[in-house]
Amino acid sequence: MTKRCFIIGHPVAHSRSPLIHGHWLAEYGLAGSYERVEIPPAGVSGFVERLRAGEFVGGNVTVPNKEVVLPLLDEVSETARAMGAANTLWMDGGKLRGDNTDAYGFLAHLDASVPDWATRSGTALILGAGGAARAVIHGLAERGIARILLVNRSPERAVELAASFPGTVEARPWQEVAQLVGESDLIVNTTSLGMHGQPPLELDLSTMRPGTIVDDIVYVPLETPLLAEARRRGGTPVDGLGMLLHQAVPGFERWFGVRPQVTAALRAKLEIDIPRV
Ligand code: ATR
Repeated sequence: MTKRCFIIGHPVAHSRSPLIHGHWLAEYGLAGSYERVEIPPAGVSGFVERLRAGEFVGGNVTVPNKEVVLPLLDEVSETARAMGAANTLWMDGGKLRGDNTDAYGFLAHLDASVPDWATRSGTALILGAGGAARAVIHGLAERGIARILLVNRSPERAVELAASFPGTVEARPWQEVAQLVGESDLIVNTTSLGMHGQPPLELDLSTMRPGTIVDDIVYVPLETPLLAEARRRGGTPVDGLGMLLHQAVPGFERWFGVRPQVTAALRAKLEIDIPRV
């Protein structure tokens, strides 16, 4: 029987996940499908019934459904619980299980891009305090990064997120960001600023030390103005596309029983699909 998988979101048309899973299905010669299904938050519980009834073996959940799906699951991984959100679902012996692979994807791409990043990163600076920031911080804390500084446009959200990681994460005012850049070994943009169609991220990198790792989770464009500036100043840029590719790995393995590789061929296929802006 052909295994069917899905991505549910609202909107879902922009999702590049079908390209990733379609590539792997072809590469490993597996009979399966991965389909976009447009589901608004109010439709998630109805969709979960279809999943339980056997229409699909599993799939992905994207914005704005990652939080609403959580209470509908039978088993929630520790990471998904910590995130308050699930992005990967699968049926397992009649039980619906969920995980969140964003932190994994972030770490796996950093590992692949800058293998010694963790030993180089005594201090990390995170920009933004939404769901993506929570995943990034979760990953950094798991790897034992000692000092994580957090700045956000709305300071109260930074304070609230920092409180979930007592002793590890320090919320700091955005006004200090230029100075914090100079203290940091790893800088991660988790805001949507710099994305095609969004305002630029105005970050002054004049105090940045050469070799500082600058990771932008935005991947449209592939090289954001932040990454271009980091490169110009002798920093080590890490783009956001790899996180998207790596976060897809655990789901594919659950659904199809093969742990897929993130290869240059897969990356090239995605790059063609990203507008040059
Ligand atoms: P996600 O789950 O993708 O992280 P989110 O929860 O909407 O999305 O968070 C978006 C992040 O980008 C937030 O940190 C947001 O700042 P606020 O908490 O102040 O809203 C940040 N962001 C979005 N637009 C911004 C802008 N124009 N200027 C500064 N920060 C912005």
